[in-house]
Amino acid sequence: MAETTPLLSIENLSVTFRTPGGLITPVPEVSLCVHPGERVALVGESGCGKSVTALSVTSLPPTDRAIRTGKILFKGCNLLEEPTALRETRRHGIAYVFQDPMASLNPVIRLSDQIGEVLPPMSKAARRERILSLLADVGLPDPVRAASAYPCELSGGQCQRVMLAMALAAEPQLLVADEPTTALDVTTQRKILGLMDRLARERQMALLLITHNLGIVASYMERLYVMYAGRIVESGSVKAVLSNPKHPYTRGLLAAVPSLKLERTQLQDIPGTVPPPGRFPPGCAFAPRCAFATADCSQAVPPLFVKEDRAVRCPNV
Ligand SMILES: Nc1ncnc2c1ncn2[C@@H]1O[C@H](COP(=O)(O)OP(=O)(O)O)[C@@H](O)[C@H]1O
Ligand SMILES: [Mg+2]
Repeated sequence: MAETTPLLSIENLSVTFRTPGGLITPVPEVSLCVHPGERVALVGESGCGKSVTALSVTSLPPTDRAIRTGKILFKGCNLLEEPTALRETRRHGIAYVFQDPMASLNPVIRLSDQIGEVLPPMSKAARRERILSLLADVGLPDPVRAASAYPCELSGGQCQRVMLAMALAAEPQLLVADEPTTALDVTTQRKILGLMDRLARERQMALLLITHNLGIVASYMERLYVMYAGRIVESGSVKAVLSNPKHPYTRGLLAAVPSLKLERTQLQDIPGTVPPPGRFPPGCAFAPRCAFATADCSQAVPPLFVKEDRAVRCPNV
């Protein structure tokens, strides 16, 4: 995987927002890449900057309030500087699926018309056929009924399948799924993720899955980035990171995941909370919550130490 040119390469991206209270920088520096057809996860607690990073990839709003620096290379073009490449990437390169399907769909437009809007120009009959085939691909049992339905007539899981159909309609090379199953019940979560995984493999589409759920990462993803306070603190193959987490934050996240194998063990939460942007502590932002922190940790942001199968932003591991 390492030899192929990345499909998406985010290099030293920083995102600053103009707010009524002044400038805040929830993402000071993030770098990550996704290779063609690869399934990559970005994990971290709420407020770590995962969505800000994901939306920045295609410069999604609030554009007027966001200052983005660094590089976002998609198939070699820097989307932050090349508007034509950005337009083309939004149309055919990258599609998104978001957390709340009900909020993403228009409640007063039939689903066939909503999916039809994302399809390229074609005859009415071909459009109808394509819509039904997309709805069948995402596992809706009765595509004809779903096509003529309004969002409120379907369940949350079914609506997320429709969102997936809309994302696939553009035949993207990369699907960015931002907490796509957080609003769904656990059984439906598994089904949707299994479906997403199958569709990504069948279409050789790369997947960037954003989640705070390490359980689903273990089942479906190949590589993993762990984010804290707008920086990657650990990355590597899912197998390596989950079996031997090195950064104290990754260890904390894993210790908080329930396991059926470990009976009667107490789940360990990480003390404290993610600092809000503008109040990141000096040095390593995780230091105030870290059991292994030393005085040095608050002096400067540690670099990413790259060793064998891993990159870790901590000198003490
Ligand atoms: N448009 C915005 N303007 C100001 N602050 C924002 C904006 N979007 C997100 N933030 C802040 O950036 C931080 C990271 O947010 P987000 O990327 O949504 O976190 P995550 O997706 O990891 O839960 C949060 O503190 C959030 O309040
Ligand atoms: Mg988010």
